Amino acid sequence: MSDRYLVTGGARLAGRVVVGGAKNSVLKLMAASLLAHGRTVLTNAPEIADVPLMAQVLEGLGASVQIDGDRVTIDTPEVPSHHADFEAVKQFRASVCVLGPLMARCRRAVVALPGGDAIGSRPLDMHQAGLRALGAHSAIEHGCVVAQADDLIGAQIGLEFPSVGATENILMAAVLADGVTEIDNAAREPEIVDLCEMLIEMGARIDGVGTETLIVTGVERLSPTSHHVVGDRIVAGTWGIAAAMTRGDVEVVGIPPQHLALVLTKLEHAGAVVDRFEDGFRVRQQDRPRSVNTATLPFPGYPTDLQPMAIGLASISEGMSLITENVFEARFRFVEEMVRLGADARTDGHHAVVRGIDQLSCAPVWSSDIRAGAGLVLAGLVADGVTEVHDIEHIDRGYPHFEENLRALGGEIERVRG
Ligand code: UD1
Repeated sequence: MSDRYLVTGGARLAGRVVVGGAKNSVLKLMAASLLAHGRTVLTNAPEIADVPLMAQVLEGLGASVQIDGDRVTIDTPEVPSHHADFEAVKQFRASVCVLGPLMARCRRAVVALPGGDAIGSRPLDMHQAGLRALGAHSAIEHGCVVAQADDLIGAQIGLEFPSVGATENILMAAVLADGVTEIDNAAREPEIVDLCEMLIEMGARIDGVGTETLIVTGVERLSPTSHHVVGDRIVAGTWGIAAAMTRGDVEVVGIPPQHLALVLTKLEHAGAVVDRFEDGFRVRQQDRPRSVNTATLPFPGYPTDLQPMAIGLASISEGMSLITENVFEARFRFVEEMVRLGADARTDGHHAVVRGIDQLSCAPVWSSDIRAGAGLVLAGLVADGVTEVHDIEHIDRGYPHFEENLRALGGEIERVRG
């Protein structure tokens, strides 16, 4: 049996929380280390379960990895193995980001199709189309992406959708290709900017960083570097929304507030007072939150990873909120769990309509993915009684020191093993 949390509702969260590096950045930066031969050092790495899992993937490719608190040191071999097998990658989706670096270094890659969160079908067609545009042959064979190329040649690639993963894989393949690659409709998430910055530190030539057009001029080789991982805006946003839901007062440190610009504006619409600092923000909420409509979109839109928290906030706000999910089609599974907690919510296609009630009522609930798990804990904080949140290893994958942080802010939470 898996661990569960017992969350007692009623506390107003107050205090200061420091967020570490972003999960969605560190895993890609670890993969990027394969692009050079030698020792890469990452600092501000989050202490989450996915980091040792990614270390296992890299070790399977011949690297040696040392994790020491928030410092990850990766020593990559001259020629990495090009085969990431199912045992290594099955547990988490981000493992597919070794595809681009392996193509760049070895001109061949066999990467088993990954497992991951239950938030909808997650095809790799754009990753493959990008590699093909660079001259590679790529197919799915026996449960693996199998790609190879004699040479990777720069090309103009227009993405159908600004996919985070496809942008990363194409970028990491293009940095060691011959000639110039232009990626149009590229993702612009802060984690993509972080990856570009690390690649530039390694010697890559990339223009248009942070825009929807990335221009990559291939170089002969890259050198290892030391890099500080960008702060986790999703963890930061989770604490900010938790402050508003519990009518609390929380200062969040460790990310530039521009990385959460729209989320903070929406909190202001809900009635919160938000102060922005260079490396963080403070959210204070006195009265019952007001309903706010939210539509998820690629950055700088509202992050899909904070959609469960937006629904949690809507569930106890005054009035009716419309939440539209535009990124992952099956991400509303969470709403069924919210209904167990008494939320007045229903879904229709990619819309959820939530009519706020005064208080949720405790119940046993199940996490289906990292963010849904955190969203359910936040809901438990505003329910009467003790909410049991099951399958919390999802939360361990993305939220370092979750219960310690929550307790330090005054939340009542207990982990029950097994
Ligand atoms: C990453 C994040 C995830 C976040 C998501 C969107 C990591 C490890 N995960 O996931 O937390 O929620 O970005 O911000 O960084 N798609 C295709 N074909 C493709 C690729 C994607 O159809 O080849 C679709 C997906 O099914 C999805 C949408 O594009 O509907 C967005 O996916 P994408 O941006 O690629 O997300 P991930 O990189 O998987």
